[in-house]
Amino acid sequence: MHALDIIQEEHRNLWRIAITIDLVADELAAGNTVDVGFFTALFDYIHEFMDGCHHAKEDEYLFLAMRRRSAEAATILDRLQAEHRNGPANLQALRAQLAGGTPSLVRNEAFIAGLRGYAQDLKGHIRSEEKDAFPLAREVLEPEDWVGINAAFGDNTDPLFGEQARAEYRELYHRIATLAPESIGLGGSSAGGLRHLSAAGADSALLQVTGLESCYGRIQALKGIDLEVRKGELVALIGANGAGKTTFLRTLSGVQPMSAGSIRFNGQDISRLRSDLRVRRGICHSPEGRQVFGPLAIEDNLRLGAYTRPRGQAEQDLERVYAMFPILKEKRRLPAGTLSGGQQQMLAISRALMGRPRLLLLDEPSMGLAPLLVEEVFNVIKALKAEGITILLVEQNAFAALGIADRAYVLETGRIVLSGTGRDMSQNEQVRAAYLGM
Ligand SMILES: Nc1ncnc2c1ncn2[C@@H]1O[C@H](COP(=O)(O)OP(=O)(O)OP(=O)(O)O)[C@@H](O)[C@H]1O
Ligand SMILES: [Mg+2]
Repeated sequence: MHALDIIQEEHRNLWRIAITIDLVADELAAGNTVDVGFFTALFDYIHEFMDGCHHAKEDEYLFLAMRRRSAEAATILDRLQAEHRNGPANLQALRAQLAGGTPSLVRNEAFIAGLRGYAQDLKGHIRSEEKDAFPLAREVLEPEDWVGINAAFGDNTDPLFGEQARAEYRELYHRIATLAPESIGLGGSSAGGLRHLSAAGADSALLQVTGLESCYGRIQALKGIDLEVRKGELVALIGANGAGKTTFLRTLSGVQPMSAGSIRFNGQDISRLRSDLRVRRGICHSPEGRQVFGPLAIEDNLRLGAYTRPRGQAEQDLERVYAMFPILKEKRRLPAGTLSGGQQQMLAISRALMGRPRLLLLDEPSMGLAPLLVEEVFNVIKALKAEGITILLVEQNAFAALGIADRAYVLETGRIVLSGTGRDMSQNEQVRAAYLGM
């Protein structure tokens, strides 16, 4: 991926953090309590990720190269880099306020003003980088500069921003999302861990779909789909409303009939296999709109996801899911309908995990979620991929989906019109215009 795309993606993520800080300030101003653990996680994340990694990368590679190429870069970069340098002290000031005011953060005006000011500075900084520094970088940097910068940004073994470090940032982010008040996060009182083992990436095809067609009466929703997902891959399927994404996933899991074509899974033709037998083979579906069973207890919803597994295994898997989302354990005896939208989404994903997926089908998991949880859903998906689970992801949030996908397909009115690596697709002019709003 291009360095500027990586930075931009990180900016989106930091922007969500800024919005979250504003929202949490609103909560405090309205007299609602917020867990101190949430702030600790938030400040740790900003310290480690933004001050320690994001800014460091910009300073060391991008901004350094810009200064070498252009004398006028200094006018823009001096200010931005002064903000980078002041970042840790500003954060420290918030931490000091937090330590001083722990018993009553609620309606604590100084702290609330501190939070709002911090969020505003963060947004201003991001805006200025994208508006002033990026265009200049594009203008003055030469191809050979970009080779070095892109290599540094894409280095997965770098101790500061390689894959290992990223897993740690994800873990911190997961804590924020879990401990954030229910109106903006999951509202838990404890935060379990996201596991992040490295993937066992065998490169053979797990799912092979050829010529797949499916109809609703006389309306042909799928008009001959060819698509492949290899073991360990994360494949994204993007497309406009009504393109047939949901129909495709439902056809794969066997709840929607197909009228032509074939589906091979792990080398075997499963085109005529019943849906429960597909689940047994490891095709697990987290459907659009979550579709949890509202009146049923949360734990019973989870057990439903394990109905094809032996009893003992379900107990073990419940604990695994609860370790990831402690809020589901806290509320396990309550009806699922009492959960917030974000909590229901985590339940829907967890229910699919209870089937021990070899192929996880996710239909629009970020739809309708608060900004903090949009990012958290993508974090969870990354962690699941890192555990070695193969994933087919349908997303309206095309930019984020392409950012984490190995490969992607674009579906238009029942046909695949484009496919390629996640990186190529996010550079593709046609995709950028149609789905990334650029
Ligand atoms: N139950 C149904 N009966 C009749 N037509 C349907 C039904 N469900 C979907 N369709 C039609 O099939 C086509 C594909 O719909 P589908 O829901 O698969 O699209 P999608 O890509 O998932 O869209 P969205 O982004 O809105 O979720 C659309 O033209 C839709 O109107
Ligand atoms: Mg859909």
